[in-house]
Amino acid sequence: MSNSGSPCNAQPSLGSVPQHGQPLWLLAELTYKCPLQCPYCANPLDFANRTEELTTQQWLDVFAQARELGAAQLGFSGGEPLVRQDLVELIGGARELGYYTNLITSGVGLNERKIGDFHDAGLDHIQVSFQAADPEVNNMLAGSGKAFRQKLAMAKEVKAQGYPMVLNFVTHRHNIDQIDRIIELCVELQADYVELATCQYYGWAYENRNDLLPTRAQLERAERITNEYRDRLAKEGNPIKIIFVTPDYYEERPKGCMNGWGQVFLTITPDGTALPCHSARMLPIEFPNVREQSIEQIWNQSNGFNHFRGYEWMKEPCASCDEKEKDFGGCRCQAFMMTGDANNTDPVCSKSPHHDLILNARQAAESAEHTEPVFRNERNSRVFCKG
Ligand code: FES
Repeated sequence: MSNSGSPCNAQPSLGSVPQHGQPLWLLAELTYKCPLQCPYCANPLDFANRTEELTTQQWLDVFAQARELGAAQLGFSGGEPLVRQDLVELIGGARELGYYTNLITSGVGLNERKIGDFHDAGLDHIQVSFQAADPEVNNMLAGSGKAFRQKLAMAKEVKAQGYPMVLNFVTHRHNIDQIDRIIELCVELQADYVELATCQYYGWAYENRNDLLPTRAQLERAERITNEYRDRLAKEGNPIKIIFVTPDYYEERPKGCMNGWGQVFLTITPDGTALPCHSARMLPIEFPNVREQSIEQIWNQSNGFNHFRGYEWMKEPCASCDEKEKDFGGCRCQAFMMTGDANNTDPVCSKSPHHDLILNARQAAESAEHTEPVFRNERNSRVFCKG
């Protein structure tokens, strides 16, 4: 892995007290195990080598410490969090601590009884992800012939048991032209919120970018159709909220990733590594572990969390840019993945000297032919582990 002489392992000089917010949003990646194999999964490519998982008690300690530090929302994620047999206990513990809790699931492994048990334990919210509105495309991407049927049944059951429901569709070249069918399905399932989240290119999605990145025309069409549905549904008095997330590859300015490094988000991976974002593990920075340090030390004092706080780490053009307080130089993981140096400006920014990397990817999307995606599964992960 090249980092082009990145000073990522050096301690940045931030002054004595780092200025930053509280970890309001805690994401608990309970496990990397997952029955599906989506080729856009954001889990690390080498997950097959990372089998260690925190115990129930260790997770409950993490929740308590983070709550003490101000965390208010807790997302149970993975892999597939349903794989953990202690999920009811974890939900119950989080509820006692006063968290607003959200289960982020594929729905595979869910059943009526579990949905009821989670409700009784105090779960506030369930987000079910779909791969497509079309069973064939959905099952092809999920790598399971039964996934679509199961997801439909579980989405109906989530709603029947009175949860507010978010349906999440990661959109890309293979399903974005069916955006109208996706929205129709969400309306039919009475979703409260719909996330039409255009694929972000990290982890497995970065590996499969040429197969997944939609063209600009596809994207514009999808956005137009979404807006038409929004207007029509609002006129009909349907309270459904539809969120459309554009891939930053088609923007001229980068996203203010994670609302700023170490400002609001705290991710804990299955083995207890604490990260400022779910992808940060790829960076050549040492990140702390909850088994060795308290959440307070991790959040306030660790090099990993202080690394990109503030502005002193920035190079040009970010250092003198009048938009740096808005976008913080963009995404550190994207800068690293694409340029080899996490201190660089995110290449999405048209001021970046590396912006041609984004322009080339857009260009490639125009002429891309369908290639077989690399599925996120143990076998392929082991190939990456071997290098
Ligand atoms: Fe890691 Fe953007 S995903 S900083």
